[in-house]
Amino acid sequence: MKTLIIGGGGREDALAWKLSESPHVTEIFTAPGNAGTLRYGKNVDISPVDIEGLKRFAIDNSIDLTVVGPELPLTLGIVDSFRSAGLLIFGPTQKAAAIEGSKAFCKDMLRAANIPTADYETFSSAEEAKKYLSTARLPLVVKADGLAAGKGVIICQTLAEATEAVTLIMGEMAFGEAGKRLIIEEFLEGEEASYLAITDGNGVAGLAPAQDHKAIFDGDRGPNTGGMGAYSPAPIITPQLEKKILSSIIKPLIKAMKDVGIVYTGVLYAGLMVSEDGVLKVLEFNCRFGDPECQPILMRLEDDLFEILCDAAKGELGDRVLRWSDKHSLCVVMASEGYPGSYKKDLPISGLEEAGQMSDVLVFHAGTRAEKGTVLTAGGRVLGVTGLGRDIREARTRTYEAVDKISFKGAYYRKDIARKALR
Ligand code: AMP
Ligand code: GLY
Repeated sequence: MKTLIIGGGGREDALAWKLSESPHVTEIFTAPGNAGTLRYGKNVDISPVDIEGLKRFAIDNSIDLTVVGPELPLTLGIVDSFRSAGLLIFGPTQKAAAIEGSKAFCKDMLRAANIPTADYETFSSAEEAKKYLSTARLPLVVKADGLAAGKGVIICQTLAEATEAVTLIMGEMAFGEAGKRLIIEEFLEGEEASYLAITDGNGVAGLAPAQDHKAIFDGDRGPNTGGMGAYSPAPIITPQLEKKILSSIIKPLIKAMKDVGIVYTGVLYAGLMVSEDGVLKVLEFNCRFGDPECQPILMRLEDDLFEILCDAAKGELGDRVLRWSDKHSLCVVMASEGYPGSYKKDLPISGLEEAGQMSDVLVFHAGTRAEKGTVLTAGGRVLGVTGLGRDIREARTRTYEAVDKISFKGAYYRKDIARKALR
């Protein structure tokens, strides 16, 4: 079967690797891919948002299954467009992807499904938002409604900060159209975890829980990034909590969507806050695999990913319990100096082969490109070095050992990935 993966980050390299393990898969194309995805097939120079171009490619090359990595093509309607051409594609339709594309829609769905989340109000005028702020409890969180590459969420300790956040989002339109509406919500305390499930709108297959590390610096300090590392399983999500997440969050959300005429197919990713006494609240939903969560999660998956994605895309998933390795996995993101701000590109990377030869280690590429036999940096998050171990301690030791073998000028990574899990 010929498979097309859309995207070019660490998540897509992990998807390419895992799909390449399936006996059903004969050819893998990644658009646009990176230096890593070349290990499993061909890269196609078409942008993930060029939906017409991608559809043409899929038709011309008789692609059997397309798998969409990032949110943007999903919110632009790539699934609707492929389906209308009779192509099989894994991901939510445009209407379903609004669960990530509009935080206000997401909050309304959460409310409709009676799923616990932070209290909130939605605003489409800066003046009204500011009026509300004068009576709101601090700290609070101001969020742009639309997609803002993870930057549209501002945690505010003071009224002055909150007022500034409203001005930034709605006055200055710092995130463009994403700021036409905003939400103001209660600040939640606790530990974050990611729970992802694959669904065809009826059946659900839960993925192993994971924990991401969003802040750039050790100890969760500094600005938020796309994610600096992740590990699985996440001990904060106990097997009991996992059951509860499926029955009281994932399934009710899918049903609430269906009640408004939306059949959700694809990955449903719940960003959760777990309070000290184990109370769960949903921070957000994403409409795709998490990056970097996808890397350690897929490394533990023992089932055939192609079969799962194909069945989900066809509406034949059913409730399914997936098989997972007992081993623990951990991914450390190696980033360019300066990320998440500005950074240099085109720096040669060394040590990839040596690290990749270690057993139970996979070096997933994110922002890389190949040029005349060398691999160069090409993005903020450059690599996702991922290792397995009998426990999280062993996975950590092995992964950091692999990281030590790799270098490029200014390479930066967090040294405390999964430290919380060692407690
Ligand atoms: P979101 O894109 O809504 O998940 O927000 C990005 C990040 O901001 C989350 O991963 C949290 O770290 C933080 N965050 C968002 N909403 C809240 C909240 N209500 N309380 C505390 N932290 C939050
Ligand atoms: N790692 C967070 C995300 O993919 O949204």
